Amino acid sequence: MAWCMVTPASRGIGFALTRHLLSTTNVPVLATARKDTSGVKSNILDGLKDVDSDRLTVLELDVTGMYHSHVNWPAFHSIIKSTLSQI
Ligand SMILES: NC(=O)c1ccc[n+]([C@@H]2O[C@H](COP(=O)([O-])OP(=O)(O)OC[C@H]3O[C@@H](n4cnc5c(N)ncnc54)[C@H](OP(=O)(O)O)[C@@H]3O)[C@@H](O)[C@H]2O)c1
Repeated sequence: MAWCMVTPASRGIGFALTRHLLSTTNVPVLATARKDTSGVKSNILDGLKDVDSDRLTVLELDVTGMYHSHVNWPAFHSIIKSTLSQI
């Protein structure tokens, strides 16, 4: 089954694209933000009519930390795997 990943999605193009995908398709959308994932999810869904909020998952990701040990990549991969297994 098709799905989309948008990173980042807290504002700008990613934010607009995520809203567009949710309102014009039926695919699940995996989006990322570097902080306040629940606030970002709520902002993305704000005002979208007839969109199932379960289609949107927002994960925390700061790309400046990609190569540093404090980013728990196994945990991030595990969340993505778990999210995709529900699709
Ligand atoms: N807008 C255009 O028309 C356009 C056209 C062509 C190319 N682009 C390029 O597309 C990209 C996005 O443009 P935009 O207009 O959407 O920019 P924007 O409104 O400034 O949004 C930037 C996004 O990047 C996130 N971000 C910044 N640093 C990050 C980090 N270290 N880790 C993870 N996320 C980070 C921000 O998150 P926070 O909210 O947490 O700060 C925000 O979601 C830019 O590279 C821009 O040059 C834009």
